[in-house]
Amino acid sequence: MAPSPSPSSTGLVGRDNFPHRHLLGIANLAPHEIRFLLDEAEQWVTLNRADSRKHDDRLAGLTQMNAFFENSTRTLLSFEVAGKRLGADVVNMHAAQSSVKKGETLIDTAMTLNAMRADVIVIRHMSSGAVQLIADKVDCPVLNAGDGRHEHPTQALLDALTIRRRLGGLEGVIVTICGDVLHSRVARSNMLCLTALGANVRVCAPPTLMPAEAERYRVTPFHDFDAALEGADVVMMLRVQNERMDGAFIPSAREFHLLYGLTPERLKRAKPDAIVMHPGPMNRGVEITSTVADMPDRSTITEQVEMGVAVRMACLDVLTRERRGVAGWA
Ligand code: CP
Repeated sequence: MAPSPSPSSTGLVGRDNFPHRHLLGIANLAPHEIRFLLDEAEQWVTLNRADSRKHDDRLAGLTQMNAFFENSTRTLLSFEVAGKRLGADVVNMHAAQSSVKKGETLIDTAMTLNAMRADVIVIRHMSSGAVQLIADKVDCPVLNAGDGRHEHPTQALLDALTIRRRLGGLEGVIVTICGDVLHSRVARSNMLCLTALGANVRVCAPPTLMPAEAERYRVTPFHDFDAALEGADVVMMLRVQNERMDGAFIPSAREFHLLYGLTPERLKRAKPDAIVMHPGPMNRGVEITSTVADMPDRSTITEQVEMGVAVRMACLDVLTRERRGVAGWA
């Protein structure tokens, strides 16, 4: 029998908490829908931390397909772990070993997964908008695991959960995001997510790596990293995304480090207990020194990975409720 719906902290019941078929980005989510997913993730943090991690089998009998057209360590593995901890049959498609290499199109690949009756599809693709294209063609919920420079919604959710658990909330929290903001889907999703939850977001980058439309996201742009760090509660560092660049956007990695690298000395400009975040993968010695990345009390980098599993369990659970006939969702 399907479990009964329980009222969430939003006061809403069932599908009213999250009326979306897919999770393609943060841009189309209301603040209460974001908070709902974070609240849902809390139970999975508890389960994942338990000594004897009893699996929950609510996705038993469902097939989860992870189709990754771009490299990944954290996102692919955590979606796989998340699906398995919920009892789903999880299969991974790595584009490098698939018929994509023989010239099969994105849509034909998606229709192939659909014909195998996937119950939920997780996609990472190098092109912005590719995940939306697939979502429009298939019969099941689709989760965006990162598309080009566009969005990486589960990364923003796991970052928000990490901050909320460390600082008690997001309202009024000063978050400085520094690095290659222009090419970063993590920055875009975080700007949308953190401002929706009431954070005061600053973005810092050299002029060549700052999006022209930064202010449209209700964030404050900086080119001077020392100024951007002043009084910050959270410092989130981003990697320079060479794979998304045509030509040189920075003179050299050494120069970038001198101006925008997070060192212990620079970190002193932030609040004394400010936390340091990085979505990974890190380029140690470029955007962040090892001393800062490995600070036991200040760095949340491994905690972010842990929150990633919980957030992805929550998203897989919520998006498959209609298919599973959960009361209030079907
Ligand atoms: N943060 C992130 O998306 O990491 P991966 O590329 O390893 O998935």
